[in-house]
Amino acid sequence: MTWLYPLAYSWMPPKLLIRDQELNKIINCIDADYPRNLWIYGGRGLGKSLTLKVFNSYAEDSGRIKPIYIECSELPSETIFKLASKLGIKSKKAESIASVLKHILDGEGVEKIVLIFDDLDRMKYISRDFSPFIHVLCDELDEFRFSLIFSSTLSYSKANEVFSSSALSRLQLKPLYFRPYTKQEVKTLLMQRLNYIDEIDISVDEDALDFICEKVSRIGGDFRKALDFMREALTLGKGKVTLSVVREIWRRMKTEFWVNQIRELPYHQALILACIVETVANHLAKEGLLSIDFSTGDINAKIDPPYLPVAWDEVKKLYLKRCMELGIQPYRSRMMYYALDNLSIKLGYIKKEILPANHELNYLKKKSLFIWLGEKIENLSLAMKQINWYDIW
Ligand SMILES: Nc1ncnc2c1ncn2[C@@H]1O[C@H](COP(=O)(O)OP(=O)(O)OP(=O)(O)O)[C@@H](O)[C@H]1O
Ligand SMILES: [Mg+2]
Repeated sequence: MTWLYPLAYSWMPPKLLIRDQELNKIINCIDADYPRNLWIYGGRGLGKSLTLKVFNSYAEDSGRIKPIYIECSELPSETIFKLASKLGIKSKKAESIASVLKHILDGEGVEKIVLIFDDLDRMKYISRDFSPFIHVLCDELDEFRFSLIFSSTLSYSKANEVFSSSALSRLQLKPLYFRPYTKQEVKTLLMQRLNYIDEIDISVDEDALDFICEKVSRIGGDFRKALDFMREALTLGKGKVTLSVVREIWRRMKTEFWVNQIRELPYHQALILACIVETVANHLAKEGLLSIDFSTGDINAKIDPPYLPVAWDEVKKLYLKRCMELGIQPYRSRMMYYALDNLSIKLGYIKKEILPANHELNYLKKKSLFIWLGEKIENLSLAMKQINWYDIW
């Protein structure tokens, strides 16, 4: 829907809001003699690339700063190739690139060159294949007229692992952190975009907007999520975004997230987890600690995880039954225990322990393995229902 264009990732705001301080810090750093190389970092979708693009236009307009923006590729050689192409040369040698950069600096009015390497964390083998390149550039170019900006989700302390000590010593990187957006900031940014939607017949209820911003800020403030959320809400609500619409979208997003998480597991491990969830749900229901919404089939637990433990023997029985229903060969015992180890030690979905016969939580009254569910049963149960178990992956 073209009228939703202001909610696209690629839409450029006419005015950069919220990150103006960070933009100023970048400008000041580039204008200073020392330190003049930046390590920009922060979580996903927090405006690092956008701020760098705004800086890029600012620098281009200034005429005195020549910015070169490069989106890093997976391979250092490809990243360097992108830089070489922007400079109109084929050679990927640091010396050749440095000589073209020197030539640019000889041009009239150019005071400084800024190389911007965005999304650095996308690149592999940085310390081996990219660090020596940076090392040579630093040596070849007049340090006061040359700045480097690296941007990634990697924290400042990781710069030590990414670059060799010789490159780091030449770079003397200054950190610039992009902190997560608060609820209010997400709101300001969303409203900026909504104001640019031409369609007159749209409405966004205040409580619905608050709901979106609250959820997005709680999960780290990734503004891409806010954009997706609002786009879907406008589509589902046909232009009318109400609280019930955004609740429904949130439910779908959550389910999709959990379905993807579960589908990352090997099929049988996922099925065993589904059986654990079902067994825990049955126990909670028996205790009156679970309510079921019959219209949607959603469950709602009255307590939080970890719930009371369930016996592995009981889960195993259910797993074997499900395998029979699905017409598939179940795991052998050794693999079942391996699956339980993976679900507990590696992934933390469950906790397991052998309880002695006289333990108060041991309802089998004989020494047996018990399982605690560590994730919210509502989320897992919703996702398990969305999975078509006949479609084995
Ligand atoms: N301050 C802002 N004003 C307007 N839009 C923003 C702002 N911050 C983020 N966005 C938008 O959110 C999306 C993600 O921002 P951006 O690509 O800059 O994130 P990032 O920090 O570079 O994330 P990543 O680490 O994943 O590369 C983009 O569509 C961008 O336009
Ligand atoms: Mg980015």
